[in-house]
Amino acid sequence: MDKKVTVIGAGNVGATAAQRLCEKELCDVVLVDIVDGVPQGKALDLMEAAPIEKHDSAVTGANSYELTADSDVVIITAGIPRKPGMSRDDLLKTNAGIMRDVTRNVAKYSPNAKLIIVSNPLDAMCHVAYKESGFPRNRVMGMAGVLDSARFRAFIAMELNVSVENTHAFVLGGHGDTMVPLPRYSSVAGIPITELMSQERIEALVERTRTGGAEIVSLLKTGSAYYAPASAAVEMAESILKDKKKVLPCAVLLEGEYGINNLFIGVPVKLGANGIEQIIEIRLSPEEDAALKKSAAAVQSLVDILE
Ligand code: NAI
Ligand code: 2OP
Repeated sequence: MDKKVTVIGAGNVGATAAQRLCEKELCDVVLVDIVDGVPQGKALDLMEAAPIEKHDSAVTGANSYELTADSDVVIITAGIPRKPGMSRDDLLKTNAGIMRDVTRNVAKYSPNAKLIIVSNPLDAMCHVAYKESGFPRNRVMGMAGVLDSARFRAFIAMELNVSVENTHAFVLGGHGDTMVPLPRYSSVAGIPITELMSQERIEALVERTRTGGAEIVSLLKTGSAYYAPASAAVEMAESILKDKKKVLPCAVLLEGEYGINNLFIGVPVKLGANGIEQIIEIRLSPEEDAALKKSAAAVQSLVDILE
């Protein structure tokens, strides 16, 4: 393949992302983890599935970074996930240390890569990766809005018994309890959901979206969601690798957009070969704007702890 994606962390999200990347035949994949044998074993397993899945993506596993050299995109999932009773923010200090170490190595071997951060707490981890890599802001982004919007879309489709393909939704803000689902910008076949559901039902779906991660944690009991998170990270990678220029909600460093400065937070962006090619500023109602600012304040408090 002429494209290369490295996935750091060969756990649930990382290994599933590697599987999706190679089964879509988007690139060769390098899977890196600190645990000896795990990335190598999962990579070999994926290679042995290739004849059946009919793809020629090469997947390799490693415990160091040499094989990752000159990756086009690096997806960082290394860290510890949530357990029942833990918030995403409980992960802050442990995952910040891991993120610093990982990003330093990634930037050394792939100085031109676009970074897609997945580890939690997401928006704060983007700050760590941005600082440690020294990369420009168009090449450091966080995956959260695509996942949260997909959850909202799934719930809309279940509620109205329509194809998920007809649904569209936007969830902005930080990846936490203060995230900002936008019913006004959510639709089925172009029809705003505000025309299709009662306010009460919309509010119920919004609340389920906000707590979507915790809902899965409470069911799984030993970890957090990974199928949908992997799909979301791969959708972002695909838009970059194929220069598709999809408009997706991603965590990005705002420098005055939406009246927010020097903070990673989820907003709609255009993703192409140059990473974040445009930050799209949509008009928000006073209530939506207040919710975004509240979410930004929650992210800022975590960044302040780290700094
Ligand atoms: P997991 O525990 O299954 O996998 C994490 C992997 O990272 C493990 O294999 C571990 O050995 C590895 N790791 C730890 N330190 C490392 C290091 N220094 N270098 C390389 N690898 C290292 O966890 P899972 O479920 O894959 O989640 C990964 C992270 O992604 C967690 O922080 C989780 O909270 C976050 N997450 C974020 C989502 C989002 O929407 N942004 C959605 C789902 C998960
Ligand atoms: C999720 O939303 C835990 O952030 C992870 O599933």
